[in-house]
Amino acid sequence: MYKMLDPAELTVFITGATSGFGAAAARRYVAEGAKIIATGRRTERLEALQAELGADKCHIITLDVQDRAALKAAIAAIPAPFANINVVLANAGLALGLQPAYEADEDDWDTMVATNINGLLYTVRALLPGMIERGGGHVVTIGSVAGDYAYPGSGVYGASKAFVKQFALNLRADLQGKNVRVTNIEPGLTETEFSLVRFKGDADRAGKPYVNTVAMNADDIAESIFWTTILPRHFNVNRLQMMATTQAFGPFNIYRED
Ligand SMILES: NC(=O)c1ccc[n+]([C@@H]2O[C@H](COP(=O)([O-])OP(=O)(O)OC[C@H]3O[C@@H](n4cnc5c(N)ncnc54)[C@H](OP(=O)(O)O)[C@@H]3O)[C@@H](O)[C@H]2O)c1
Repeated sequence: MYKMLDPAELTVFITGATSGFGAAAARRYVAEGAKIIATGRRTERLEALQAELGADKCHIITLDVQDRAALKAAIAAIPAPFANINVVLANAGLALGLQPAYEADEDDWDTMVATNINGLLYTVRALLPGMIERGGGHVVTIGSVAGDYAYPGSGVYGASKAFVKQFALNLRADLQGKNVRVTNIEPGLTETEFSLVRFKGDADRAGKPYVNTVAMNADDIAESIFWTTILPRHFNVNRLQMMATTQAFGPFNIYRED
């Protein structure tokens, strides 16, 4: 029988636990006996999650990953029962808008860079030394198929996810001999609040990508995240890309004059 790690030995720090993948992962880990530190900006959602999962298994911190100082201070103040973090799920992120680059809102670009790139960097940088000191751990970053494949309007979002992929691979190179695994999870179409955020609350527009098709859901992604982190320690999944069965690759887009 193949021997997986005991999830009860895991303490998982999750960014973006108030919704989507992060919330589903929080539930998945706690259901298997792990402890989690759930973070995000929306305190009332964190409180509801903690009420659901129990304060002995779920510690919550209201946190904006863009705020490096707040992140460091919050990590330093984590109470002892949750302090031995051995999995970091750097998941907080967003897409804003779908305009071509020449029409895109530069504030949207700033927010995506500040969250998907800087916030992820701050999270990983703040938590890595502790994991190394404690003898090992696992960094899971959330990339996207948008980090590999261009599509119209993907702009800075896709580029930010390409950054995340390369940063995860570079981390692997730095962490040789430190017993810290790194996995970049790269999902395709998945129904969460992602689209609602992208279209700034326009529910009609946000629902369109999911009409008359079957997308992946947050539990699918949580399952993949969970699996990579309970594999035996000698085994590192570098990148894991997944799509809904209904999603595949388009033809090259050739512009033709009428
Ligand atoms: N859904 C998809 O199709 C898809 C596909 C590939 C990759 N992804 C990626 O997967 C990750 C999770 O997305 P999701 O689909 O689960 O979307 P979601 O339901 O909108 O969840 C996004 C999470 O990120 C958090 N977040 C956003 N900005 C933050 C900030 N500045 N500080 C802290 N937390 C912040 C949100 O929490 P608060 O608002 O409470 O702060 C929320 O919990 C993202 O990195 C996204 O780019 C999504």
